[in-house]
Amino acid sequence: MPRRSALMLAVAARCGALVPRARPLRPLTTLAESAAPAEERRERVLSGVQPTGTLHLGNYLGAIRQWVQFQDDYDSFFCVVDLHAITAPHNPKLLQQETLDAAALYIAAGIDPEKSPIFVQSHVTAHAELCWLLNCMTPINWLERMIQYKEKKQKQGENVGVGLFDYPVLMAADILLYQAGLVPVGEDQRQHLELTRDIARRFHDLYCKRKKRVFREPKALIVKEGARVMSLTDGRAKMSKSAELDNSRINLNDDPATIARKIKKCKSDEFTGLEWDNPDRPEATNLLNIYQAVTGMERDAILAEVGDLSWGGFKPRLADAVVAHLEPIQLKYAEVKEDKAYLSGVLKSGAERADETATRTLDAAKAAMGFAPRF
Ligand code: TYM
Repeated sequence: MPRRSALMLAVAARCGALVPRARPLRPLTTLAESAAPAEERRERVLSGVQPTGTLHLGNYLGAIRQWVQFQDDYDSFFCVVDLHAITAPHNPKLLQQETLDAAALYIAAGIDPEKSPIFVQSHVTAHAELCWLLNCMTPINWLERMIQYKEKKQKQGENVGVGLFDYPVLMAADILLYQAGLVPVGEDQRQHLELTRDIARRFHDLYCKRKKRVFREPKALIVKEGARVMSLTDGRAKMSKSAELDNSRINLNDDPATIARKIKKCKSDEFTGLEWDNPDRPEATNLLNIYQAVTGMERDAILAEVGDLSWGGFKPRLADAVVAHLEPIQLKYAEVKEDKAYLSGVLKSGAERADETATRTLDAAKAAMGFAPRF
């Protein structure tokens, strides 16, 4: 059983958490893993969301919902990536609250902080430090190829900062620090995961010849349904926190009336009936995908139920299904937000547990690169 602080036990008691059942061990391939205590050698999952604005249905269906499913089978770490949130111009008055709200949503969505540490990225300094080490060995042209950088750079224009360019290296540091084998993310993160693997390989080629490797190469875990939830106002654009129009997304804390209004107003088309995968009907595919993700029904059953409906007939059903799916999450969210001491306890103990693992990898990386040890 992992070592637990009194605080963690108190947190566990409040959550009614159970002791995790035995999970498969992973092969010990890296230096940091060999140094880890036996109980920390299970297959590892790490993921995170930026606390920019409110988390939306895309974040939930593409990422967070899978985290909840995996936490019983893997050793998981989930962070609120606040250092990533400042790679675009941000409001310092909102960052703290949005960070806490994101953490509260992780718990509300079903992450049990006793099973899976939840922490704030900037509370574990190893993230920024490993990012620097990796910066110094990552070729610039690898970063110039990143699609998200190119897209976001266009939006930010003159104000684009070095941090936006470096974003994928920080993300690689997040993942590699925890020896994560699996990273559950939406489709838009696939390229960043490939870059993370490339960075790990280059590090090993440069610094680990004939020595034990430092990092584990991670794989992206991408769901079939929900991997790419599209905007409500344009079925060809991704649902996004940074899109100007709030009507383009369903925020996880939107009330039922707002959800119904956004879906009622969302873009539709002139065709009759509803169908999947018609390239001229991206909105139909998107809304059916959302319906499928929140109801858990098979495609055939959905088409039998709503395939002949008009948009006007389908939209209220979709709104009801989304509201029903989000209702328990919203109730729990309100509860967690209310209990500030509980949330800060979760984040304190999460950062302590994360720091222990991350520091072990950071020390191994520094040793491989030839830094003098701390005396
Ligand atoms: P962020 O905050 O942009 O997105 C968080 C997660 O939500 C997924 N996602 C979507 N999935 C489906 N449809 C959408 N419309 C949609 N929009 C977002 C993203 O794929 C992501 O999984 N760079 C990461 C944050 C990060 C991270 C990490 C993730 C930083 N370090 C380490 C995993 C591991 C990001 O895009 O955040």
